[in-house]
Amino acid sequence: MKHLLATDGLDPALATAVLDTADELKHTLLGREVKKLPTLRGRTVITLFYENSTRTRVSFEIAGKWMSADVINVSASSSSVNKGESLRDTALTLAAAGADCVIVRHPASGAAQRLSEWLAEPGTSVVNAGDGTHEHPTQALLDAATLRERLGSLKDRRIAIVGDVLHSRVARSNIHLLSGLGAEVVLVAPPTLLPYGVESLPVTVSHDLDAELPAVDAVMMLRVQAERMHGGFFPSAREYSIAYGLSERRQKLLPDHAVVLHPGPMLRGMEIASAVADSPASAITEQVRNGVHVRMAVLYHLLASEGAAA
Ligand code: CP
Repeated sequence: MKHLLATDGLDPALATAVLDTADELKHTLLGREVKKLPTLRGRTVITLFYENSTRTRVSFEIAGKWMSADVINVSASSSSVNKGESLRDTALTLAAAGADCVIVRHPASGAAQRLSEWLAEPGTSVVNAGDGTHEHPTQALLDAATLRERLGSLKDRRIAIVGDVLHSRVARSNIHLLSGLGAEVVLVAPPTLLPYGVESLPVTVSHDLDAELPAVDAVMMLRVQAERMHGGFFPSAREYSIAYGLSERRQKLLPDHAVVLHPGPMLRGMEIASAVADSPASAITEQVRNGVHVRMAVLYHLLASEGAAA
């Protein structure tokens, strides 16, 4: 694997290999006081973030450090981007300085793909850490890792993805990855928060959360992306919460084995009740924990495995 830009088109066998590597790394490091492997010694990983992040940036930094890579964080707000430098010039500068891998988050859909084209000549790997409303592939991989742990195989499991699908790169990456791994995906959202062309996606669509909950193995609540709603928010926050929030009453409709996910950051009380987010059914903290091992696995497959340059 040379880059990780999207789950759309990602070979399910390769995705499974990454998930298996993450699982192996998790078990290797379990209970160790010093979590350090020599695998990426001498390699340089740079995170380049044009949007805010807590989970993705921190877990990539920890993942790189636990594998002994040199990790450097660049945020647009404190770099020469603030002086007007373009994304292309910034990327070429980082590659010239010695980056083996650039992990990029950017508000423009397609930014990671463009970066991979510009960095083809220096041969620097690119990971998409979220590009606009397009994709967030490592989030989907960590979600799949968490679901595999809780449910075993994803084959024929029914997963509801709920809420602001329109603006969600997490939803898009999960639709492609989970369906590629054999799960059945149902999108539950108001018509105003579904993307154009949803009928071409490998999903079914519902507007009735209460009707879907009794038949799902997992429910993935999405963040409402107010920062991408330039024309306002319809339905209103209150209407949204009533129709699509995962309340304590709604949680009771779920089967006992069902898993509750949220990629974070969560709006407690609107997207999900605090009591649900903190309940035993919730795997939200596990998602974050698994994010480190999944990102270690991604760096391994990009920079250290036999198929790294493929
Ligand atoms: N899930 C996610 O991408 O979180 P951050 O924005 O904190 O990285």
